[in-house]
Amino acid sequence: MKGIVLAGGTGSRLYPATLSVSKQLIPVYDKPMIYYPIATLMEAGIRDILIITTEKDADAFKNLLGDGSLLGCEFSYAVQDQPKGIAEAFTIGASFIGSDRVCLILGDNIFYGKQFKELFKTQIELKKPSIFAIKVSNPSRYGVVSFDPEGNAESIEEKPLAPKSNYAIPGLYIYDSTVVEIAKNIQPSERGEKEITSIHQVYLESGNISVGILSDDVVWMDAGTPTSFTLAHDFVKEMEQSSGIKIACLEEIAYTKGYISKEVLQKSIDRMGSSDYGNYLKRLI
Ligand code: G1P
Repeated sequence: MKGIVLAGGTGSRLYPATLSVSKQLIPVYDKPMIYYPIATLMEAGIRDILIITTEKDADAFKNLLGDGSLLGCEFSYAVQDQPKGIAEAFTIGASFIGSDRVCLILGDNIFYGKQFKELFKTQIELKKPSIFAIKVSNPSRYGVVSFDPEGNAESIEEKPLAPKSNYAIPGLYIYDSTVVEIAKNIQPSERGEKEITSIHQVYLESGNISVGILSDDVVWMDAGTPTSFTLAHDFVKEMEQSSGIKIACLEEIAYTKGYISKEVLQKSIDRMGSSDYGNYLKRLI
Protein backbone atom coordinates (compact mmCIF):
# COMPACT_ATOMS: atom_id res chain seq x y z
CA MET A 1 0.00 0.00 0.00
CA LYS A 2 1.42 3.36 -1.06
CA GLY A 3 0.46 6.63 0.63
CA ILE A 4 -0.03 10.12 -0.74
CA VAL A 5 -0.30 13.27 1.37
CA LEU A 6 -1.82 16.14 -0.58
CA ALA A 7 -0.33 19.33 0.83
CA GLY A 8 -0.86 21.69 -2.09
CA GLY A 9 -3.42 24.46 -2.42
CA THR A 10 -3.23 28.10 -1.47
CA GLY A 11 -4.60 27.82 2.06
CA SER A 12 -6.61 30.94 1.20
CA ARG A 13 -9.14 30.34 3.97
CA LEU A 14 -6.32 30.99 6.46
CA TYR A 15 -4.97 34.20 4.86
CA PRO A 16 -2.97 36.18 5.96
CA ALA A 17 -1.34 33.36 7.99
CA THR A 18 -0.73 31.33 4.83
CA LEU A 19 0.20 34.10 2.39
CA SER A 20 3.88 33.21 2.56
CA VAL A 21 3.89 29.89 4.44
CA SER A 22 2.23 26.65 3.37
CA LYS A 23 -0.81 25.82 5.48
CA GLN A 24 0.50 22.32 6.11
CA LEU A 25 3.73 23.69 7.60
CA ILE A 26 2.18 25.94 10.23
CA PRO A 27 2.15 24.33 13.66
CA VAL A 28 -0.89 22.69 15.18
CA TYR A 29 0.23 23.17 18.78
CA ASP A 30 3.76 21.71 18.89
CA LYS A 31 4.42 20.30 15.42
CA PRO A 32 3.76 21.16 11.78
CA MET A 33 0.29 20.29 10.53
CA ILE A 34 1.60 17.73 8.03
CA TYR A 35 2.89 15.54 10.88
CA TYR A 36 -0.69 14.54 11.67
CA PRO A 37 -1.62 12.98 8.30
CA ILE A 38 1.82 11.40 8.00
CA ALA A 39 1.33 9.88 11.47
CA THR A 40 -2.02 8.47 10.38
CA LEU A 41 -0.37 6.66 7.47
CA MET A 42 2.64 5.48 9.48
CA GLU A 43 0.49 4.07 12.27
CA ALA A 44 -1.33 1.96 9.67
CA GLY A 45 2.01 0.62 8.38
CA ILE A 46 2.14 2.81 5.25
CA ARG A 47 5.73 3.97 4.84
CA ASP A 48 6.21 4.59 1.12
CA ILE A 49 4.73 8.08 0.87
CA LEU A 50 4.48 10.70 -1.88
CA ILE A 51 4.12 14.26 -0.60
CA ILE A 52 2.48 16.62 -3.09
CA THR A 53 3.11 20.32 -2.49
CA THR A 54 3.10 23.57 -4.44
CA GLU A 55 6.32 24.38 -6.25
CA LYS A 56 7.14 27.35 -4.01
CA ASP A 57 6.85 25.27 -0.82
CA ALA A 58 8.57 22.08 -2.03
CA ASP A 59 11.99 22.90 -0.56
CA ALA A 60 10.56 23.74 2.84
CA PHE A 61 8.85 20.34 3.04
CA LYS A 62 12.05 18.59 1.91
CA ASN A 63 14.04 20.45 4.57
CA LEU A 64 11.56 19.37 7.21
CA LEU A 65 10.98 15.73 6.25
CA GLY A 66 13.90 14.74 4.03
CA ASP A 67 13.87 11.35 2.35
CA GLY A 68 12.05 9.80 5.32
CA SER A 69 15.02 7.71 6.47
CA LEU A 70 15.01 9.31 9.94
CA LEU A 71 11.51 7.86 10.29
CA GLY A 72 12.12 4.50 8.64
CA CYS A 73 10.03 5.66 5.70
CA GLU A 74 10.57 6.51 2.07
CA PHE A 75 9.34 9.99 1.17
CA SER A 76 9.20 11.25 -2.39
CA TYR A 77 7.91 14.59 -3.60
CA ALA A 78 5.83 15.93 -6.45
CA VAL A 79 4.35 19.29 -7.34
CA GLN A 80 0.78 20.36 -8.04
CA ASP A 81 1.17 23.58 -10.07
CA GLN A 82 -2.34 24.88 -9.55
CA PRO A 83 -5.13 23.90 -7.18
CA LYS A 84 -6.97 21.83 -9.79
CA GLY A 85 -8.59 19.45 -7.36
CA ILE A 86 -7.89 16.58 -5.00
CA ALA A 87 -8.43 13.94 -7.70
CA GLU A 88 -5.45 15.32 -9.59
CA ALA A 89 -3.22 13.78 -6.91
CA PHE A 90 -3.74 10.42 -8.61
CA THR A 91 -2.60 11.61 -12.04
CA ILE A 92 0.35 13.49 -10.53
CA GLY A 93 1.19 10.33 -8.59
CA ALA A 94 0.52 7.90 -11.46
CA SER A 95 4.07 6.54 -11.78
CA PHE A 96 4.47 6.45 -7.99
CA ILE A 97 1.28 4.36 -7.65
CA GLY A 98 2.16 2.00 -10.52
CA SER A 99 0.09 -1.14 -10.02
CA ASP A 100 -0.17 -0.81 -6.22
CA ARG A 101 -3.05 0.16 -3.98
CA VAL A 102 -2.94 3.69 -2.65
CA CYS A 103 -4.22 5.65 0.30
CA LEU A 104 -4.64 9.41 -0.10
CA ILE A 105 -4.88 11.68 2.92
CA LEU A 106 -5.38 15.43 2.84
CA GLY A 107 -2.61 17.42 4.49
CA ASP A 108 -4.97 19.28 6.83
CA ASN A 109 -6.97 16.30 8.07
CA ILE A 110 -6.38 15.21 11.65
CA PHE A 111 -7.84 11.97 13.00
CA TYR A 112 -7.82 10.82 16.61
CA GLY A 113 -9.35 7.83 18.37
CA LYS A 114 -9.00 4.10 18.96
CA GLN A 115 -11.96 3.13 16.79
CA PHE A 116 -10.51 5.19 13.94
CA LYS A 117 -7.15 3.40 14.09
CA GLU A 118 -8.82 -0.02 14.15
CA LEU A 119 -11.29 0.78 11.38
CA PHE A 120 -8.59 2.26 9.14
CA LYS A 121 -6.62 -0.99 9.40
CA THR A 122 -9.76 -3.07 8.81
CA GLN A 123 -10.63 -1.07 5.68
CA ILE A 124 -7.07 -1.49 4.38
CA GLU A 125 -7.32 -5.25 4.89
CA LEU A 126 -10.68 -5.40 3.04
CA LYS A 127 -8.75 -4.88 -0.19
CA LYS A 128 -11.65 -2.88 -1.59
CA PRO A 129 -11.89 0.81 -2.52
CA SER A 130 -12.92 2.53 0.65
CA ILE A 131 -13.96 5.87 2.07
CA PHE A 132 -15.03 6.85 5.58
CA ALA A 133 -18.10 8.60 6.95
CA ILE A 134 -18.55 10.56 10.15
CA LYS A 135 -21.58 12.36 11.56
CA VAL A 136 -21.25 16.15 11.51
CA SER A 137 -23.56 19.08 12.25
CA ASN A 138 -22.60 21.00 9.07
CA PRO A 139 -22.50 18.42 6.23
CA SER A 140 -22.84 21.06 3.48
CA ARG A 141 -19.18 21.94 4.03
CA TYR A 142 -18.02 18.48 2.95
CA GLY A 143 -18.48 15.52 0.64
CA VAL A 144 -21.62 13.77 1.91
CA VAL A 145 -22.63 10.10 1.68
CA SER A 146 -26.17 8.83 2.23
CA PHE A 147 -27.25 5.24 2.82
CA ASP A 148 -30.12 2.95 1.75
CA PRO A 149 -32.15 1.08 4.42
CA GLU A 150 -29.65 -1.82 4.28
CA GLY A 151 -26.85 0.58 5.14
CA ASN A 152 -25.20 0.55 1.70
CA ALA A 153 -23.92 3.80 0.23
CA GLU A 154 -26.65 5.26 -1.99
CA SER A 155 -25.49 8.73 -2.99
CA ILE A 156 -22.27 10.70 -2.72
CA GLU A 157 -22.34 14.44 -3.30
CA GLU A 158 -19.82 17.28 -2.97
CA LYS A 159 -20.90 20.07 -0.63
CA PRO A 160 -24.64 19.64 -1.29
CA LEU A 161 -26.91 22.55 -0.36
CA ALA A 162 -29.56 20.08 0.75
CA PRO A 163 -27.55 17.15 2.19
CA LYS A 164 -29.30 13.75 2.12
CA SER A 165 -27.57 12.72 5.36
CA ASN A 166 -25.34 14.21 8.01
CA TYR A 167 -22.45 11.88 7.20
CA ALA A 168 -19.41 13.80 5.94
CA ILE A 169 -16.64 12.05 4.02
CA PRO A 170 -13.30 12.90 5.62
CA GLY A 171 -10.15 13.38 3.56
CA LEU A 172 -8.86 9.81 3.71
CA TYR A 173 -9.42 7.48 0.78
CA ILE A 174 -8.22 3.96 -0.07
CA TYR A 175 -8.15 2.98 -3.72
CA ASP A 176 -6.69 0.44 -6.11
CA SER A 177 -4.46 1.48 -9.01
CA THR A 178 -7.44 1.85 -11.38
CA VAL A 179 -8.01 5.20 -9.66
CA VAL A 180 -5.33 6.68 -11.92
CA GLU A 181 -7.36 6.01 -15.08
CA ILE A 182 -10.56 7.14 -13.39
CA ALA A 183 -8.89 10.40 -12.33
CA LYS A 184 -7.69 11.00 -15.88
CA ASN A 185 -11.19 10.61 -17.27
CA ILE A 186 -13.37 12.61 -14.88
CA GLN A 187 -14.39 16.12 -15.87
CA PRO A 188 -13.65 19.19 -13.73
CA SER A 189 -16.58 20.60 -11.75
CA GLU A 190 -18.02 24.09 -12.16
CA ARG A 191 -15.30 25.47 -9.88
CA GLY A 192 -12.71 24.05 -12.31
CA GLU A 193 -11.48 21.26 -10.01
CA LYS A 194 -11.30 17.51 -10.48
CA GLU A 195 -13.36 16.61 -7.42
CA ILE A 196 -12.53 13.58 -5.30
CA THR A 197 -16.28 13.05 -5.07
CA SER A 198 -16.40 12.35 -8.83
CA ILE A 199 -14.02 9.43 -8.22
CA HIS A 200 -16.16 8.06 -5.38
CA GLN A 201 -19.19 8.30 -7.69
CA VAL A 202 -17.50 6.15 -10.37
CA TYR A 203 -16.75 3.44 -7.80
CA LEU A 204 -20.23 3.78 -6.31
CA GLU A 205 -21.86 3.26 -9.73
CA SER A 206 -19.87 0.08 -10.25
CA GLY A 207 -21.00 -1.09 -6.80
CA ASN A 208 -17.42 -1.29 -5.65
CA ILE A 209 -17.02 0.97 -2.67
CA SER A 210 -16.93 0.29 1.03
CA VAL A 211 -17.79 2.96 3.59
CA GLY A 212 -16.24 2.72 7.04
CA ILE A 213 -18.42 4.46 9.60
CA LEU A 214 -16.45 6.31 12.23
CA SER A 215 -17.95 6.23 15.71
CA ASP A 216 -19.09 9.29 17.65
CA ASP A 217 -16.00 9.26 19.86
CA VAL A 218 -13.62 9.64 16.92
CA VAL A 219 -12.24 13.14 16.56
CA TRP A 220 -11.83 14.37 13.00
CA MET A 221 -10.74 17.88 12.20
CA ASP A 222 -9.94 19.56 8.93
CA ALA A 223 -7.74 22.39 10.09
CA GLY A 224 -8.42 24.58 7.06
CA THR A 225 -10.30 27.54 8.55
CA PRO A 226 -9.35 29.79 11.49
CA THR A 227 -12.03 28.18 13.66
CA SER A 228 -11.24 24.54 12.84
CA PHE A 229 -7.52 25.28 13.02
CA THR A 230 -7.88 26.72 16.52
CA LEU A 231 -10.05 23.79 17.57
CA ALA A 232 -7.38 21.36 16.38
CA HIS A 233 -4.65 23.32 18.16
CA ASP A 234 -6.60 23.44 21.45
CA PHE A 235 -7.52 19.76 21.19
CA VAL A 236 -3.92 18.61 20.72
CA LYS A 237 -2.69 20.91 23.49
CA GLU A 238 -5.26 19.67 25.98
CA MET A 239 -4.80 15.99 25.14
CA GLU A 240 -1.02 16.19 25.32
CA GLN A 241 -0.95 18.20 28.53
CA SER A 242 -3.39 15.93 30.33
CA SER A 243 -1.89 12.62 29.18
CA GLY A 244 1.78 13.52 28.82
CA ILE A 245 1.70 11.63 25.51
CA LYS A 246 2.24 13.38 22.20
CA ILE A 247 -0.18 13.00 19.32
CA ALA A 248 1.43 12.39 15.91
CA CYS A 249 5.01 12.28 17.16
CA LEU A 250 6.49 10.73 14.02
CA GLU A 251 9.78 9.67 15.62
CA GLU A 252 7.93 7.95 18.47
CA ILE A 253 5.71 6.05 16.03
CA ALA A 254 8.76 5.02 13.99
CA TYR A 255 10.66 3.88 17.08
CA THR A 256 7.85 2.02 18.84
CA LYS A 257 6.80 0.30 15.61
CA GLY A 258 10.37 -0.82 15.01
CA TYR A 259 10.82 1.20 11.82
CA ILE A 260 14.01 2.78 13.22
CA SER A 261 16.80 1.84 15.64
CA LYS A 262 17.87 3.74 18.75
CA GLU A 263 20.82 5.14 16.77
CA VAL A 264 18.51 6.64 14.14
CA LEU A 265 16.22 8.05 16.84
CA GLN A 266 19.27 9.68 18.42
CA LYS A 267 19.81 11.66 15.20
CA SER A 268 16.34 13.19 15.55
CA ILE A 269 16.98 13.88 19.24
CA ASP A 270 20.11 15.81 18.29
CA ARG A 271 18.17 17.67 15.60
CA MET A 272 15.35 18.74 17.94
CA GLY A 273 17.76 20.19 20.51
CA SER A 274 16.40 21.23 23.90
CA SER A 275 12.83 21.84 22.72
CA ASP A 276 9.95 20.26 24.57
CA TYR A 277 9.63 17.91 21.58
CA GLY A 278 13.34 17.00 21.75
CA ASN A 279 13.12 16.31 25.49
CA TYR A 280 10.10 14.07 24.88
CA LEU A 281 12.10 12.05 22.33
CA LYS A 282 14.98 11.72 24.84
CA ARG A 283 12.60 10.16 27.32
CA LEU A 284 11.73 7.43 24.79
CA ILE A 285 15.18 5.92 25.29
C1 G1P B 1 -12.43 18.40 0.52
C2 G1P B 1 -13.29 17.43 -0.29
C3 G1P B 1 -14.50 17.00 0.51
C4 G1P B 1 -14.08 16.44 1.85
C5 G1P B 1 -13.17 17.44 2.60
C6 G1P B 1 -12.58 16.81 3.84
O1 G1P B 1 -13.08 19.61 0.66
O2 G1P B 1 -13.65 18.05 -1.52
O3 G1P B 1 -15.22 16.01 -0.21
O4 G1P B 1 -15.22 16.14 2.64
O5 G1P B 1 -12.08 17.85 1.76
O6 G1P B 1 -11.69 17.66 4.51
P1 G1P B 1 -12.27 21.00 0.91
O7 G1P B 1 -12.04 21.03 2.39
O8 G1P B 1 -11.00 20.90 0.16
O9 G1P B 1 -13.16 22.07 0.42
